[in-house]
Amino acid sequence: MSVASSDFKKVTTNSVQEMKRKGEKISMLTAYDYTLARIIDQAGIDVILVGDSASNVMAGHETTLPITLNEMIYHASSVVRAVTRALVVVDLPFGSYQGNSKEALVSAIRIMKESGGHAVKLEGGIEILESIQRILTAGIPVMGHLGLTPQSIYKFGTYTVRAKEEEEAEKLIADALALEVAGCFALVLEKIPAHLAKRVAESLSIPVIGIGAGADVDGQVLVLHDMLGMTHEFNPRFLRRYLDMYTEITGAVRQYAQDVKDGDFPNAQEQY
Ligand code: KIV
Repeated sequence: MSVASSDFKKVTTNSVQEMKRKGEKISMLTAYDYTLARIIDQAGIDVILVGDSASNVMAGHETTLPITLNEMIYHASSVVRAVTRALVVVDLPFGSYQGNSKEALVSAIRIMKESGGHAVKLEGGIEILESIQRILTAGIPVMGHLGLTPQSIYKFGTYTVRAKEEEEAEKLIADALALEVAGCFALVLEKIPAHLAKRVAESLSIPVIGIGAGADVDGQVLVLHDMLGMTHEFNPRFLRRYLDMYTEITGAVRQYAQDVKDGDFPNAQEQY
């Protein structure tokens, strides 16, 4: 069964904006490889994010900082080969766009050319506006990302809720408006108070997609491996686990290992 809106055979940046206008919530998940991207695309997810969370989930790094542009292109091209309907958004990794808008454009062009992704996502507000503007001049759609921005973890020091204080909340609102005016087609808000996310979503005409930002936004995103219960250690309040794959996979692998040890696998029907 697919939950995809019948209106959109292929999801584009325009379709997600139309979803906001129509009041239809946008569903978004991460994927980093062909096999899972194929499953979630066929299940009807609207937007697939090739997140730099691949650095944690796929490579086992503690932060998102080490992943490279080449590695992001590898993950994104695997996802793009799997997808027939979803909009594929690819994170620009740490160090590929901050502080130098010309380098930002080169990085974004490499993502689009070498992976076939449909849009890029950058973390930050006014301080990276020049990079966003330059990328947009090349006709590359940009998704913004504010609130908890994991590439700045060493500036924040922790992964706790952002913008709880008035000053940071006002800066976030100003950043969100600046991203919309610059031409971003959508915005991710990560781990901020629900009332603030609601205010931002109501103030912007572009879709606001939340992760740990409450229900009053235009869509939701989760890390696929977290919502499938493949990761165990990460338990934020906003995470709903739809499966317990860690336990399921452990059980299957134990059974297989036991069957091999016992000489039970393969049986007579499982050989030539
Ligand atoms: O990299 C990622 O997975 C993300 C989401 C958490 C929004 O940026």
